[in-house]
Amino acid sequence: MDLKFPIAEQPDAAELERARLLFASGAEFLKGVVAMSGLPDADRGEVCFAGRSNVGKSTLINALTGRRALARASNTPGRTQEINFFTLTDALYLVDLPGYGYANAPVDVVAKWQRLLKSYLTGRQTLRRAFVLVDHRHGAKAVDEEIMSLLDRAAVTFQVVMTKADKVKQADRAAALETTRKVLARHPAAYPEIIVTSSESGDGIGQLRSVIAQFA
Ligand code: GTP
Ligand code: MG
Repeated sequence: MDLKFPIAEQPDAAELERARLLFASGAEFLKGVVAMSGLPDADRGEVCFAGRSNVGKSTLINALTGRRALARASNTPGRTQEINFFTLTDALYLVDLPGYGYANAPVDVVAKWQRLLKSYLTGRQTLRRAFVLVDHRHGAKAVDEEIMSLLDRAAVTFQVVMTKADKVKQADRAAALETTRKVLARHPAAYPEIIVTSSESGDGIGQLRSVIAQFA
């Protein structure tokens, strides 16, 4: 089958174990940033997690690091309002971004985060990959595509991570993947494989750790 944007294959056991050990060796919250001037020194690689509000960015960071409350997650969209930096040993930063597309906050405040988000995504030299999270129930939407276009222009490779796979019946998965693939086909900066995850069941978490570990 010659599928464009296939689901990524499972890494081998040794690779999974190497990544597991990296993530087990400790992630810590470093700082929350509200302006580009507050970014930590660009002294190591980093990967970030972008996506619509409530898609599960903060929860995914907790699942990856095995820490229940490292990043603050919540049922209320617009929970994360700063760019939050986490250290993964001294090898890499994990970066939790404010969501886009909806926020239960005053319009001027939302506009400010969105500006910061865009400056960060286009202006951070050490950003190795942006993970663009997409709710598996819905597939990629127009707001996701705006961010993807921004990443194309900045030449930042992005990879789609489907979230909340536990909430989608097997039979409904193909449609959301198909919608997403159609969108990805329009974006030169899209990494050619999709990762399917559930922070609830742990599906795909080891695999995503392996992808991230290559940047450490
Ligand atoms: P913002 O910070 O507002 O942009 O949201 P976010 O993308 O960080 O989402 P967050 O991690 O706060 O999660 C939003 C809600 O989705 C929470 O109630 C999570 O418990 C839930 N959630 C996240 N991931 C999963 C998942 O894989 N499965 C299920 N069932 N729920 C999830
Ligand atoms: Mg969040």
